[in-house]
Amino acid sequence: MIDGAWTAQVAQNYDAASAGMYAPEVLDPAVDFLARCTAGRTALEFAIGTGRVALPLSARGIAVSGIEKSEPMAAQLRAKPGAEHVPVVIGDMTTTTVPGTFGLVYLVFNALTCLLTQAEQVQCFRNAAAHLQPGGVLVAETFVSQLQRLPPGETSRPFHVGIDHLGIDVYDVLNQRLTSFHYDVRAGKASTFQSPHRYL
Ligand SMILES: C[S@@+](CC[C@H](N)C(=O)[O-])C[C@H]1O[C@@H](n2cnc3c(N)ncnc32)[C@H](O)[C@@H]1O
Repeated sequence: MIDGAWTAQVAQNYDAASAGMYAPEVLDPAVDFLARCTAGRTALEFAIGTGRVALPLSARGIAVSGIEKSEPMAAQLRAKPGAEHVPVVIGDMTTTTVPGTFGLVYLVFNALTCLLTQAEQVQCFRNAAAHLQPGGVLVAETFVSQLQRLPPGETSRPFHVGIDHLGIDVYDVLNQRLTSFHYDVRAGKASTFQSPHRYL
């Protein structure tokens, strides 16, 4: 079961291409915040990916589980130190269930926007609620769409311009969607990646 965008090739490049999201000044405060949200209880990450956040959270002694649709992304996670403590179920986060209930369910790095309809996003919240203990916490981290910066008639906005990465969002405002186009150059090799999102 491979989500359209999250192929084996993308999974292989994911950590290097997401280096900015691994930077300590980005990742550490996110993990600190999520650790506080657990209040010593267990955590479940929807769309756990390669374990960018789940592994450091688990390393703090918090029991973390995950749901992930893309087997190649989960395979990258499983190959990392500490993965033996982070069980992952392959499936869709709108419907897949895992054993137990949790003090925290969280979705980070725009995972919620990977669900392309409002109905799927609502179903995802329902599934999260079904996994939460009484008093449990749901955290969703997403980008904020730049609609106010989109002049009438234009559909694209750069969201990152750098020497080794160019990112452009192309909006479909009627359907509340955008596609993020990434153009990367690393170690002299060029690659492209596109991911569709429904913004909130
Ligand atoms: C931007 S990555 C985020 C990965 C990880 N949470 C992180 O912070 O690095 C988005 C992830 O969402 C996963 N995904 C997309 N749709 C999904 C779905 N319906 N159910 C479960 N995972 C999904 C993709 O396979 C991918 O691993």
